[in-house]
Amino acid sequence: EFHHHPLDAGLSSAGFFGKFDRRQVQRGFQVYQEVCSACHSLKYVSFRDLTQLGYNDAEVKAIAKGWKIEQPTINPDTGEASTRPNVPSDRFPSPFANDIAARAANNNALPPDLSLMAKARHDGANYIYSLVGHGYVAQPAELIRKFPASKTPTGLHYNQYFANLNIAMPPPLTQDGQVTYADGTRASVDQMAKDVSAFLTWTAEPRLEARHAAGFGAVVFLIIFCFLAWGAYQNVWRDLK
Ligand code: HEM
Repeated sequence: EFHHHPLDAGLSSAGFFGKFDRRQVQRGFQVYQEVCSACHSLKYVSFRDLTQLGYNDAEVKAIAKGWKIEQPTINPDTGEASTRPNVPSDRFPSPFANDIAARAANNNALPPDLSLMAKARHDGANYIYSLVGHGYVAQPAELIRKFPASKTPTGLHYNQYFANLNIAMPPPLTQDGQVTYADGTRASVDQMAKDVSAFLTWTAEPRLEARHAAGFGAVVFLIIFCFLAWGAYQNVWRDLK
């Protein structure tokens, strides 16, 4: 009763004929870039994959070069750890040197890699939208009364869509206009949450459109094949009726 089923993000990629809304996915990338990448990596996505969203090679190069979080490297001569700017073949890096540093900065919780999050959670796209767009509310007094031990401890945040209810992630989207969209769309918290969910749907399954097209083709083929098989059956048994 205190844990809620996700709201519908209404993404165009959902459903049998679903296709990505590339402008929306680009806006979602902007939200990831300006907000989420401060804590979360995308270790299965490289900068050059952005060409699939409509960015050209020069733009991808510039995005990689200007990315605030650089790639960790080790100097082969001295063994010294440092960082270097990103290139298009790099994956979106984690801002933390390792999991220990990541936990130290996040109340002992690990910000998970977001590449496959839309697949990892049940109803993932709608879950991500709900979690960051509509999850952070005041903890119901009724809940604390019934289950006193569930009272949100300091350092955690009540989120009605998170399975544990108390999450280590501070609310990432807090105010309208937090991101200034390149395409002029009004950046309400709801809009940013929808857009980043669209982006993370793409990172989790960039070939979604091809899968939908193949599925549709298979169904059309099977329908035609049914008539062929029925016709063949009629033909084979014609003389024996
Ligand atoms: C966890 C999304 C920004 C820190 C998560 C989870 C998602 C997510 C989907 C997994 C929840 C689950 O396990 O079911 C996002 C999105 C962001 C964002 C879409 C940007 C809009 C941030 C930022 C920080 C952060 C800026 C750090 C300040 C964390 C931490 C966890 C987490 C520490 C682990 C929480 C726990 O296990 O208690 N985030 N995040 N996130 N995120 Fe974020």
